[in-house]
Amino acid sequence: MMRDQANFQPNPETAASRVTQPAFWGTLPARWNSDTDDTLVCCQIRQETHDVKSFFFRAPDERAFVFEPGQFVTLELEIDGEAVNRCYTISSPPTRPHTISITVKRVPGGKVSNWLHDSLQVGSTVRVLGPSGEFTCARHPARKYLFLSAGSGVTPLMSMTRAHHELGEDRDIVFVHSARTPDDIIFARELDLIASNQTRFRTAFVCERVGTRTNWPGVTGFLSLPLLKLIAPDFMEREIFTCGPAPYMKAVRDLLDEGGFERSHYHEESFSFDTIPDVAAQLTTAHVADALEGDVSFAVLREQAAGFSPATVEPEVAQTFTVSFAKSNRQIECGSGQHVLDAAKKAGVRLPASCTQGMCGTCKVKLVSGEVAMKHAGGIRQREIDQGMVLLCCSKPLTDLVVDK
Ligand SMILES: Cc1cc2nc3c(=O)[nH]c(=O)nc-3n(C[C@H](O)[C@H](O)[C@H](O)COP(=O)(O)OP(=O)(O)OC[C@H]3O[C@@H](n4cnc5c(N)ncnc54)[C@H](O)[C@@H]3O)c2cc1C
Ligand code: FES
Repeated sequence: MMRDQANFQPNPETAASRVTQPAFWGTLPARWNSDTDDTLVCCQIRQETHDVKSFFFRAPDERAFVFEPGQFVTLELEIDGEAVNRCYTISSPPTRPHTISITVKRVPGGKVSNWLHDSLQVGSTVRVLGPSGEFTCARHPARKYLFLSAGSGVTPLMSMTRAHHELGEDRDIVFVHSARTPDDIIFARELDLIASNQTRFRTAFVCERVGTRTNWPGVTGFLSLPLLKLIAPDFMEREIFTCGPAPYMKAVRDLLDEGGFERSHYHEESFSFDTIPDVAAQLTTAHVADALEGDVSFAVLREQAAGFSPATVEPEVAQTFTVSFAKSNRQIECGSGQHVLDAAKKAGVRLPASCTQGMCGTCKVKLVSGEVAMKHAGGIRQREIDQGMVLLCCSKPLTDLVVDK
């Protein structure tokens, strides 16, 4: 029987007793689908470091989460009466299907990360969309991996590492994580445990400074090519996955370029949509794959990848349509080859948007009348499409439009 989501209050005693119910383990739960069951319940919060917490969520009716390690979900929240969407990587592995966790670092002044840290509690419910994303080792099987991360960028690599560990695959993985100080290393103890369980899993922590730890035995400074050669002398033979702040990823690309690394074996994810061309560089489109074949530098590759970003594609203006914003009483012109969000931006109409790639759901609106051609990347549910919602960043008009904005 379907549980009434609005009245659902998890009872910690009941939750604990699930573990002792044979039926809970004896059956495979049905798959969670954000299209129909989008409200998840926070069932545990863990303090990972002084400014990082993991939040664990359970689906209604104990449904199972199915995703690829490295993928992310979008949280759709309402904070101070304002709708806000943010993406967070699933830090738990798909081998733990009963829950998912996200691991969030406080960003000074950041709206959502601080709200999650200060206000989300066990028993709170949140609307979640996804999972989405292409940054996953599942799509790039390799004998040897090199995982490079910095700060909260550890999360996708942690999900991939946990998945290999829990599947009992002693995969050859070198896990290099950069942090400000040893106290900022996220998942340090678990990574040590995995390293002690698996003969071919190695960690190396690179800290900017020692902080309060006077006895830090690890490396201090920044990742460099000579240091990488010391940590993983065979890095040229590895499939590399990188995630971290934009300057860190640029430094990694530069040092790999310097080392002559074959970029078709390089994958990265940015946590900032401002650097979306970098994300596009690892998309597996045929165009990017073609570019990857050639002898082009990372910078050129990113420029080429940027050319495939919907936000930067030159519009073919074969026909012009009128887009009316019902609430603000404004009208703009939009070419048939142009995304509505781009046309609105050009006309000075400010609309909420984040990824501009059809992934995050921030630009979702109700289409009052008209038709669009929409090419999204997971940022909208099928039932929302059926209800007439569209993502303006990846929708081109097929007729005059009226949107509820
Ligand atoms: C695919 C993906 C996966 C991600 N995974 C993770 C993850 O696993 N863990 C994680 O911690 N994060 C992750 N992120 C980042 C996350 O989505 C958020 O961007 C992050 O938590 C910050 O959000 P926020 O609302 O706290 O900050 P925001 O409110 O978005 O602010 C960000 C920064 O901008 C500044 N700022 C905000 N408004 C203004 C203004 N008006 N003027 C000037 N400055 C301003 C803030 O001070 C802050 O420094 C991921 C992002 C993506 C795209
Ligand atoms: S801005 Fe992210 S889906 Fe449109």
